Amino acid sequence: MFTIITGSQFGDEGKGKIVDLMSKDYDLVVRFQGGNNAGHTVKVGDDVYKLHLIPSGFLLDSRVLIGPGTVVDPGVLLEEVDMLSAGGIDLPPEKMGIDAKTSIIMPYHIELDVLRESKRTEKIGTTGRGIGFAYIDKVARDEVRMADLTSSERLMKRLSELAASKEAAIRDLGGDPGIVMDEGLIEKYVQLGERMAPYITDVSYEVNKALDDGKNVLAEGAQGTHLDVIHGTQKFVTSSCTIAGSACANIGVGPTRVDSVLGIVKAYITRVGEGPMPTELFDDLGKQIQEAGGEIGTTTGRSRRCGWFDLPLLKKAIYLNGYTSIALTKLDVLLDLEPIKVCVAYDLNGKVLDYPPEDTADLAACKPVYQELPGWDDDLTGVQSFDDLPPAAKDYVLYLEDKMGVPVEFISVGPARDQTFRK
Ligand code: GDP
Ligand code: IMO
Ligand code: MG
Repeated sequence: MFTIITGSQFGDEGKGKIVDLMSKDYDLVVRFQGGNNAGHTVKVGDDVYKLHLIPSGFLLDSRVLIGPGTVVDPGVLLEEVDMLSAGGIDLPPEKMGIDAKTSIIMPYHIELDVLRESKRTEKIGTTGRGIGFAYIDKVARDEVRMADLTSSERLMKRLSELAASKEAAIRDLGGDPGIVMDEGLIEKYVQLGERMAPYITDVSYEVNKALDDGKNVLAEGAQGTHLDVIHGTQKFVTSSCTIAGSACANIGVGPTRVDSVLGIVKAYITRVGEGPMPTELFDDLGKQIQEAGGEIGTTTGRSRRCGWFDLPLLKKAIYLNGYTSIALTKLDVLLDLEPIKVCVAYDLNGKVLDYPPEDTADLAACKPVYQELPGWDDDLTGVQSFDDLPPAAKDYVLYLEDKMGVPVEFISVGPARDQTFRK
């Protein structure tokens, strides 16, 4: 069985929690795009794990893989390995693999990301982790790959081919070009490469072989649908394809092998960084949801912008991903809100749209048209079944399910693994 999980909104929908929960039924869990711009949270009992690169299936028996379509900062990856190990969770090479073709985020990518963002008059609000510049190099065929870190000769040869253009780019943006060939940094990357070498694998082969052998594979998306570099709200997007089809292309597995696509859908919407979000709440209600949901960015610590559920954006996410079912997360957060609003359409200069306009500037000009639904004042965090939800919360779920036209499979009412039930 091959299942793909993606975020349906602007990221932080609770992918990490649901992947952890589902991983008990999967032999392999694979990250297929993005890098340490992602921040995925897994909570089991009192233990909370906030990870950026290691796939969220690390706690149970699954083998976790980092695919060739990701961009990896090896220092961050090994810090995560060490942090887990200090807590008694070891990730030896039998438990984790990274593809030889994975692009490495080098210090100059981070420098370029930060410099470029500082020069933009209209900011994107990137995470400053070098993601965009690492992907630029992948597409330009100027990347350093995982396998290049395995010997200092190989890395030096690669860097000497690239150094002049990287130094010029940094100089152009007013930075210090010395960072590119800094001996200490190169030495550090070789050491990181030596530690990573036993983990190097061929992810496409492993995934295809596992499927041939009747095993189960879960592809874990990062970011969210509307941050997709092609289909998102450009320019306010990340630099990778975040939608379900991207799992096939980035892992190297045919679309004919996909069995199911699970969309992670927050019961409201959040966004961190810049870019339009038509239902954004700028008032106390927005603050109330932000506080109740603990909506603080896992990677950058920035407050997440909060708003009401946006059906037009969700419809687009359903088209882009082909969801076969949905996990509705953070339902517990919508407590003491009367009424609860759902955006059913947009008003764009007097025209009513039930699907997002294609141009980002038009989306930014859209005014939400709301349907009001009754709220509830019961704490949902202890609820263990759909039948035990208060009637208004049940009606909210059923309303969304009907409008989305995709079955809700899981409902999440708290950060912990056991605060989840099937509908
Ligand atoms: P991801 O990037 O999609 O994996 O999501 P993040 O981990 O960045 O953000 C989701 C946050 O919400 C984390 O702090 C989770 O622990 C938390 N969370 C996940 N599901 C629920 C839920 O149903 N209710 C509440 N209250 N918190 C949740
Ligand atoms: P997870 O996997 C939310 C946002 C950044 C910024 C834009 C571009 O935790 O859902 P980048 O550093 O990628 O070039 O920044 O994308 N962004 C995310 N927002 N969740 C994420 O990941 C994100 N990863 C990137 O805030 O607006
Ligand atoms: Mg996150």
